[in-house]
Amino acid sequence: MLPNVNAEDISKLLDKLVVVKLNGGLGTSMGCKGPKSVISVRNDLTFLDLTMQQIQHLNNIYGVSVPLVLMNSFNTDDDTNKVLKKYANVRVQVHTFCQSQYLRINRETFTPLVKDLKANDHEAYYPPGHGNFYEAFYNSGLLQKFIDQGKEYIFLSNIDNLGATVDLNILNYIVNGSQKPEFVMEVTDKTRADVKGGTLIQYQSKLTLLEIAQVPKDYVDEFKSISKFRIFNTNNLWGNLAAIKRVIENNELEMEVIVNPKHLDRGVDVIQLETAAGAAIKSFRGACGINVPRSRFLPVKKSSDLLLLMSNLYDINFGNLTLSDDRSFPTTPLVKLGSQFDKVNDFLKRFQSIPDLIELDHLTVSGDVWFGRDVTLKGTVIIIANHGDRIDIPPGTLLENKIVSGNLRI
Ligand code: UTP
Repeated sequence: MLPNVNAEDISKLLDKLVVVKLNGGLGTSMGCKGPKSVISVRNDLTFLDLTMQQIQHLNNIYGVSVPLVLMNSFNTDDDTNKVLKKYANVRVQVHTFCQSQYLRINRETFTPLVKDLKANDHEAYYPPGHGNFYEAFYNSGLLQKFIDQGKEYIFLSNIDNLGATVDLNILNYIVNGSQKPEFVMEVTDKTRADVKGGTLIQYQSKLTLLEIAQVPKDYVDEFKSISKFRIFNTNNLWGNLAAIKRVIENNELEMEVIVNPKHLDRGVDVIQLETAAGAAIKSFRGACGINVPRSRFLPVKKSSDLLLLMSNLYDINFGNLTLSDDRSFPTTPLVKLGSQFDKVNDFLKRFQSIPDLIELDHLTVSGDVWFGRDVTLKGTVIIIANHGDRIDIPPGTLLENKIVSGNLRI
């Protein structure tokens, strides 16, 4: 709830809003087939389920109908549309559209890979990054449709970031503030763990997103410095629909192209040309960054991120995650899990139940390690099974500031 703003005014604000989730990515890096959004986060609820809960809850509280838009890619469109059938009775308007598919280029020959493959081979194509959103959204007809319905703003974020809930303060600032920014990027304080995140710089008198891929090798350490570049892009972005329409139609959307070299399993080196949604910031008037708390950036890139979200560190209410009141300090533990935990299915098999992490500061697990039921981890815990050894943490164990190594069975 906003101070000094009554529920009716909040409803009016929300009537102008469309929530967009970027859903073009697969769960391959976490060993899952299909869209990343269908990975279960808690009690069999997936990113998509929790996102639906968030929007439904918002709509119920304020008696509004904020629509949810999913930008799919050719990789995720069919599966997502199948999954969406299960929400037929949920009172959230869901719209989907598919982003573009571009041709992968062979790095040796600089010709499209499709020449060497069958035309319907998925590996010949790629979704060209989330910067593709603006054009693909425009081309889908949804941009105009929402403008015609009286919508004015989008709030766009990564589907795997459950911290990206609709922030009424930011919405109020954009709609009712004196600055009327056409574009807002939520940034957050950088820690040593996020040195690769894109940052905002003032360049040729415009606020510009600087990504690590654009930084010459000799300057990468400077880019990573958390004292020089103190904030990074959360990819929670707010944009004015009429302004998006204008920059597309006037051909004013300028985004740096990021060259992404990839090695395909079939042994071919390819190049993908991609853009990032935040790079659009320089094309909009009055654009600004807003420094938000870390709790608005909870992406799941690795199984260690999933471990935190699945644990008692977070309470989940109507899809909204909050750090448990039982934790006496506001930061989350630093967790490093070995490669045995990379794939979600392997990770899940190795925990009979998710340990109690309320008082954990730092966890490192390496090698063939298995956790029994109701384990509690406190302080700094390091568990290292040497090559060929296996460590079983028995049910009910409490490990507090402990190093466990070798093939020790406690
Ligand atoms: P990314 O894969 O770009 O992740 O997806 P990231 O956080 O920017 O960076 P790295 O590579 O993991 O470090 C961010 C969001 O954008 C969507 C994904 O589904 C995810 O929600 N995405 C990405 C698309 O929708 N389309 C794309 O072409 C790429």
